[in-house]
Amino acid sequence: MGNDAVTAELAIRPYEDADSDAVRTLWNACRLIVPHSDPATDITFCRAAADAELFVGSEGGRLVATVMTGHGGWLYYLAVDPALRYRGLGGQMVAHAETWLGARGVAKVNLMIRDGNTDVAEFYEAVGYTCEPRGVMSRVLADKQG
Ligand SMILES: CC(C)(COP(=O)(O)OP(=O)(O)OC[C@H]1O[C@@H](n2cnc3c(N)ncnc32)[C@H](O)[C@@H]1OP(=O)(O)O)[C@@H](O)C(=O)NCCC(=O)NCCS
Repeated sequence: MGNDAVTAELAIRPYEDADSDAVRTLWNACRLIVPHSDPATDITFCRAAADAELFVGSEGGRLVATVMTGHGGWLYYLAVDPALRYRGLGGQMVAHAETWLGARGVAKVNLMIRDGNTDVAEFYEAVGYTCEPRGVMSRVLADKQG
């Protein structure tokens, strides 16, 4: 459904403190904030890390897209304003993150898709990603006893 005629250019830059409200609004609209996630902690952790960055994309001065990247080659919090989809903005955010990672020697980019958000796999396939047959295991350290 992509259409080059409506592809828009985003101004992409690193997140700043003043973006906080706009980012939270965007992530809510994109249903990226779920009960077990803590975006404020994720942003703080990202900004404190030398190998990670949260990028925001603006159109006409309005923040309309994000992608968090780093930590060895991962993408998180990819979001485009629901009213502005299918205009190439998501692809631009992914490409920006890839360029940033590539410049830091990262050879492979990974991401995880939450259960219930499987449609987004078609977006990632359209921008060059493939699905790897892997299981994901995790442990929340705050729950660790003894
Ligand atoms: C995923 C998301 C960022 C895509 O943003 P977007 O700006 O619409 O994407 P683009 O316009 O750059 O699309 C690039 C390609 O993917 C395709 N595409 C985009 N969304 C798609 C979807 N939901 N299903 C199928 N194909 C899709 C486009 O048609 C286009 O294909 P083409 O290159 O063959 O023309 C956006 O839908 C979003 O914010 N979703 C909610 C948040 C989310 O799920 N994030 C990912 C978490 S893992």
